[in-house]
Amino acid sequence: MAVEKTLVILKPDAMERGIVGEIISMIEKKTFKITYMAIKNLTDEDLEYHYAEHKDKPFFPSLASYMKRGPVVVMVVEGENAIKGFRKLTGATDPMEADNGSIRGRFALTKDENIVHASDSPESAQRESDFFVKNIKA
Ligand code: TYD
Ligand code: MG
Repeated sequence: MAVEKTLVILKPDAMERGIVGEIISMIEKKTFKITYMAIKNLTDEDLEYHYAEHKDKPFFPSLASYMKRGPVVVMVVEGENAIKGFRKLTGATDPMEADNGSIRGRFALTKDENIVHASDSPESAQRESDFFVKNIKA
């Protein structure tokens, strides 16, 4: 296994519901290391880049308005096998199908507003980290 970096976003409902600290605790307890963290307000352009694969899906407009509803917490998280490992800690997209101990399993209420984003491959981790760390001002 290799040390990897993955890009994590705590979506607006995490801050609205006051559970950012609890989620960060879960991340730290899994021995992931947070090496970058910033609070940002995302724009339509940011979301069209970040969710390029979903830009033409029927749910994109509501996804974009949810992601713009308030500030998000952007993190780069490092660790052994962090990309796959963090997807497991994230849980399935639909919280009804997410493991009970996962972030979505514990906190997410619906598939549309599911608390957390995590990169799904080494390519997206690189692309998303470059974008959020270098191109978006806090
Ligand atoms: P997706 O990449 O399929 O899920 P994941 O975040 O687990 O990688 O979808 C991206 C986000 O789009 C998802 O977290 C929530 C939103 N979404 C909806 O609002 N409705 C849907 O039907 C799907 C599939 C996703
Ligand atoms: Mg995805």
